[in-house]
Amino acid sequence: MKTPAPLIDVVRIRAATFVQHVETYDEVESTNTRAVELARDVSVALPALVMARKQTSGRGRGGKSWWSAEGALTFSLLIAPSAMGIGSADWPLLSLTTAVAVCDVLRAEGLLAKLGIKWPNDVFFQDRKVCGILIESPGGSAPAKDRLVIGIGINVNNSCQNAPDGIRMLGTALCDVTGRQHDPQELLVRLLCALAERIQHLRSHDISELTRAWRQLDLLAGKQVVLEADNQAIDGKCVEIAHDGALVLETALGRRRYYSGSVRPA
Ligand code: BTN
Repeated sequence: MKTPAPLIDVVRIRAATFVQHVETYDEVESTNTRAVELARDVSVALPALVMARKQTSGRGRGGKSWWSAEGALTFSLLIAPSAMGIGSADWPLLSLTTAVAVCDVLRAEGLLAKLGIKWPNDVFFQDRKVCGILIESPGGSAPAKDRLVIGIGINVNNSCQNAPDGIRMLGTALCDVTGRQHDPQELLVRLLCALAERIQHLRSHDISELTRAWRQLDLLAGKQVVLEADNQAIDGKCVEIAHDGALVLETALGRRRYYSGSVRPA
């Protein structure tokens, strides 16, 4: 791991957001991996932000790797949910909550129509992925077991036109959509504030506000899909994302609710 570099204005981040501890790296394996390490350190004030200009082994869901070049916004937030008033029953809702907060911010950056969430937490614009979210539970003993890592990767000024083949076809970046450069630090501040606001909805059990938001953003509603979960492939038509974060599918066996898995078109 290399020496932390002055990637962002740490004073500003701490003054303008709920973040208490900041680590920035020019290069790191994965900000999530570093945040998981930090989770074991009781002296670190939370929420803690780990940010990197470049990740050498960025990680995605399902053991996949995450591509991001210079210009991407890649960071992880280490939180103690209980200290924020989020009970363990609501932990599974944090990924959708984060996706909603990302959409709040991307909308303000000019991504309007066709911005949405592909359950459980991918953010797409015009059928291309612009942001990935990886929530991890460090597990083990206290204090780590009571903490969560929210990892967010947004393609900002890293044009996907220069990305490896698979990503070039399936991904997009803010700069590809708007044709201009975006200020990553400004985005980060707005996103942390949006996240604090959306977490407040969870905390106050104002779930109807969140449910309304993710239903409006749901890109799968009405689509015929295959859900892969627990080594099974389930065919069904997406009905909605329920208030408890479940994907509701109309299957051959009737209406069923799913809490994890990944979805592809039928
Ligand atoms: C996915 O869509 O599969 C999730 C991608 C999550 C990527 C972010 S980038 C910052 C953080 N560090 C990681 O190693 N992964 C997450």
